[in-house]
Amino acid sequence: MQHQNKTFLITGAASGIGRACALRIAAEGARVALLDIRPAVESVAQVLREGGAVCETVVLDIADPDQTARAVEKISSALGPVDCLVNNAGIVDNIAPLARMKFDAWQREIGVNLTGPFNMIRAAAGAMAERGWGRIVNMSSAAARGGLFRQVGYAATKSALFGLTYNVALEYGRQGITCNMILPGLIGTENVLAMPQPIIDTAIAATPSRRLGTPNEVAALVSFLCTEEAGFINGAEIDIDGGMRLNTLALGSIKENRRS
Ligand SMILES: NC(=O)c1ccc[n+]([C@@H]2O[C@H](COP(=O)([O-])OP(=O)(O)OC[C@H]3O[C@@H](n4cnc5c(N)ncnc54)[C@H](O)[C@@H]3O)[C@@H](O)[C@H]2O)c1
Repeated sequence: MQHQNKTFLITGAASGIGRACALRIAAEGARVALLDIRPAVESVAQVLREGGAVCETVVLDIADPDQTARAVEKISSALGPVDCLVNNAGIVDNIAPLARMKFDAWQREIGVNLTGPFNMIRAAAGAMAERGWGRIVNMSSAAARGGLFRQVGYAATKSALFGLTYNVALEYGRQGITCNMILPGLIGTENVLAMPQPIIDTAIAATPSRRLGTPNEVAALVSFLCTEEAGFINGAEIDIDGGMRLNTLALGSIKENRRS
C-alpha cells in the first residue's frame, strides 16, 4: 500500500492508460480523483468504490482554466490537497497532411494536450509547494521525439511537454516537487487495439521488444514516479516503448523479418 494517505488526481481516467493508472494506484492505497471530459469516468469510479477505494470524479474539459481550477478546489475539499497529479488526458484530433489541417483542430490539440497539463499544474502545484511535497507526471508520447506522420498537432504538443516538464522541475524542485515526463510507444489500449491490424503489425515490427506495451506497464511507471523513493528523479523524460525510439535499427529488423 505504497500510496496510503496520498491524494492522486488523474486526468483522462475514463479509459486506456488513465483507467489503468486509476485501478493500480487505488489498489496501492491512494484516494483518487478521476477527471475526464466523458461521463463514462463514473463507471471507473464505480469499480473502484466496489473495491473499497475512496474516489471522486469530475467531468470537465481540461483545456478550460476555470473548470480545472474548480475541479482542483472540489477534489481538495473532498479528498484533501492533491499530492500527485497525473496529466494523462490527451487527444489526436487532426490526422491529415499539414497543409490540409484545420486551424480549429490544431488549436484544440494545443488546448487539450499542452494547455490542459499547464492548467492542471497551475491549479495544483501551489498547494503542493506549501506542503513541501508533490509529484507531477506528464504523459507525452514517442511522437515527441520522432514526430508522427500526418499528426503534426499531436507530435508538436507532445514535444512541447518537454519544455513544460523541464520548467516545472526547475521552478518547483526546491519545494519538494518532482515533475517528469513519460513517452509511451504503442500501448494496447481499447482504442489502439481497435486500429487496423496492418498498422499494429507495422508498429510491432518497428519495436525491438516485438509487442505492444500494456496500459498496466505504463501505470506501474506512473505509480513509481509518484513514490517517495523516486524523489531524486526530476525533470526526466522516460521512454516506455520496447525500444521503438531506436528506429534505424528497428527498420533494419523489418527487412530481416520479411526475408525470414
Ligand atoms: N495508447 C497509446 O499507444 C499511447 C501512446 C503514446 C502516448 N499516449 C498518451 O497517453 C495518454 C492516454 O492515452 P490513451 O491511449 O489511454 O487514450 P484514451 O483516448 O483511451 O484516453 C484519453 C482520455 O482522455 C480523455 N480526454 C480527452 N480530452 C479531454 C479533455 N479535454 N478533458 C478531459 N479529459 C479528456 C478522454 O475522454 C479519454 O478518456 C494520452 O495523453 C496519449 O496521448 C498513448
